[in-house]
This record gives sequence, structure tokens and C-alpha cells, in this order.
Amino acid sequence: MESATLKFRESTVKAKPLPRHVGIIMDGNGRWAEMQGRPRIEGHREGSASVREVTRCARRTGIEALTLYAFSSQNWKRPSLEVTGLMELLREYLIKERAEIMENGIRLNAIGALERLPAFVRTPLEALREDSAGNKGMVLTLALSYGGREELVQAMQAVARRVENGELSSDSITEADVERELWTCDLPPVDLIIRSSGENRVSNFLLWQGAYAEYVFTETLWPDFRGDELLDCIERYQNRERRFGLTSAQLRALP
Ligand code: FPP
Repeated sequence: MESATLKFRESTVKAKPLPRHVGIIMDGNGRWAEMQGRPRIEGHREGSASVREVTRCARRTGIEALTLYAFSSQNWKRPSLEVTGLMELLREYLIKERAEIMENGIRLNAIGALERLPAFVRTPLEALREDSAGNKGMVLTLALSYGGREELVQAMQAVARRVENGELSSDSITEADVERELWTCDLPPVDLIIRSSGENRVSNFLLWQGAYAEYVFTETLWPDFRGDELLDCIERYQNRERRFGLTSAQLRALP
């Protein structure tokens, strides 16, 4: 979409309450490439361009936190050529986007079993994470080697350690005790989770955090998903009523 039109749409979307935190399952890179008879990695490369465009659009629109599912715990099992290609793309992204991230006050964050990433990704990731830590604009979180179940297991282990140390009794464990051990503990609640490519699955993404999120599933393959598509998804979110277990009448009566 032409940039002036996109910016106009961003200002319209901004006028209504925005989701504070948007998570995206970026799916469909492989199919996008295969449909064109090209290697899968080219779909991931074009998907990186979508990451750039969507991040820009989210920041301009005023989204506080954007979390992108870039590599799951299960993705390690893909053919080694694809895994290496994805790692190289991540490194390239972290190096090439550094200036734009810093100029726009974005805080780069990462969640997942980051120790499993190769050093050639971990080094630029940690450097950008540290250098952007003081930035006050949007938080961009890359979910890398991430799995929601894995996140919950490590949270349970941390809570169990607190019980062992006598800090907590097992009967007094609250939702807040679990939440403080999640990798997302310093991020706002997730309001909207988007999945591209026509698949209607959650695939181990933000399992705890998505409990009351709105889900939007779109047919668009990730490499074709750009700013205008993000705005469409936000508009779909804005047209829904979030009831958190209450009735519509109760919601209307709230102060
Ligand atoms: C799922 O599509 C996508 C991935 C496993 C990787 C996502 C990675 C990127 C968008 C690019 C690199 C990321 C950054 C942050 C620069 P798929 O391959 O499963 O698609 P398919 O279902 O069509 O096969």
C-alpha cells in the first residue's frame, strides 16, 4: 500500500482504543516460496521484509508491545539447511535493523531458550538488547527458540524453588506468583494475537498470556502481510466486545 494512504489509515485506527500488546504467529513463508517454485528460505527472507514493515506500522500506530514468533522450540527439528538459513536471516536482521531500532526508540527484547541459539545470533541479539534497554518507545520482542509449554515448565520450576526455600507455601501460590516467572513478566497483557496463512492453531505461542487475548486468523501468507493487513486485524479487534467472563449488561454498567 502507498505510504500516504497507510499513514492516513494509521491515524484512523489510532483514534479508537488500541491493543496494548500484539502477538503475531508469522506463518506461511514456506508455502509462499513453494507456490512460486522458489526455495523455502526465500519465503523467510520476504517474511523478514514483512517484519520490518509491520514493526514500523505498529510503532507509528502507537502499539506499546509487539511480540513476533520467529522461531519455535519445535522449529529446531526442521531440515538443518532451513534452520541455518533462518539463523543467518536473524543475524542479518539484528545487524541491519539496528540503526532503525535505535533511531525510533524501540526496545529490542527476546524470549525463549536463548542459550540454544548459535553465538553468531546471540552476540548481536544481546548487544542490541543491552544497547536498546533504555529506549522508551515500543518494545519489540522476538520469540526465539520459544515454546509456551517450555516457558510454563521453567516458571513452575522457579515457583517450586521458592516453595523449597520456604518463601511460599504450595497452597498460597497465586496467578501473580506464576506470572512473575514468565519470560513476558515485564510486558503489558497480550490483547491481540494474530496468525497469518489460514491456519487456525495456537502452536505453543503465549499459552498463559493468551488466556483472554482476542485471536484474529487471516488467510494472508506472512510474506504478503504488511502494514495494511496489521491495521485490518486491529480494526477487527476494535470491533469486538471483550467480556472477560462478564455479560454485556455488566460491562455497560461498569464505571
Ligand atoms: C513459519 O512459516 C515461519 C517461521 C518458522 C519463521 C518466521 C521467520 C521469519 C518471518 C523471518 C525471520 C525473522 C525475523 C524476526 C527477521 P513456515 O515456514 O512454517 O510456513 P509454511 O507453513 O508455509 O511452511
